This record gives sequence, C-alpha cells and structure tokens, in this order.
Amino acid sequence: MVWKKTVSVKALEHAGGHIAVNVDGNVIFIAKGKDGFHGLNAVCSHAKCILGIYEEDSMTVRCPCHSARFEINTGKMIEPPSVAPNAPMEKLGLKVYGVRENGGFLEVDVD
Ligand code: FES
Repeated sequence: MVWKKTVSVKALEHAGGHIAVNVDGNVIFIAKGKDGFHGLNAVCSHAKCILGIYEEDSMTVRCPCHSARFEINTGKMIEPPSVAPNAPMEKLGLKVYGVRENGGFLEVDVD
C-alpha cells in the first residue's frame, strides 16, 4: 500500500461530499459514502470525460457527458452511456482506490 495525502476532510465537505483530485497523474474521484470514503478513477471508461455527478443515496456517480453510471465502491458500470445503450458494461468498470482519513486529511492508496 502506498498512501498519498490529498485534500482535507473539511475541503471535501465544503465541496459537497465529493471531489476530483490529481494524485501522481491519476485523476481520482473521492466521495463520502454511507460506509466511509471511496475513491474511483475519475476518467470515464466510455469517452474519457471527468466524473461526475455524485448520488449519495445510491453511492453512484454519473458521467456528465453521456450519463453512464458507476458504483463508487466497486467501480462497476451499472448504466450504459446514453449514446451507447448496448455497450459491454462488464468491460467498462473503473479502478477503485482505498481512501482513509489521517489527521484530518484524506489519503488515497495508489498502489
Ligand atoms: S464519456 Fe462518460 S458516458 Fe460518455
């Protein structure tokens, strides 16, 4: 595990409970879920738009470009892009990252 410090918990809360950060060149979408913090590759697997529109109740994030939806804790695509309704969703999942709080800051496991 390689933990990298990102934003403060207060900054995440100020941003509405979700934020995209750049960690060593990887854009990672961090969100607070019902069960803690989660990290997800923020680059959509369809056409590389940056996620997203976070829906806290369902712990999913929607791509602003064509509305594909991903689970924040698994990275699984659960709704295809609106312009590609037959896209192979099982192949379009996103990498997830461990996120932990340490001293008021959020750290992401980039290993
Ligand atoms: S780029 Fe994300 S759904 Fe198309």
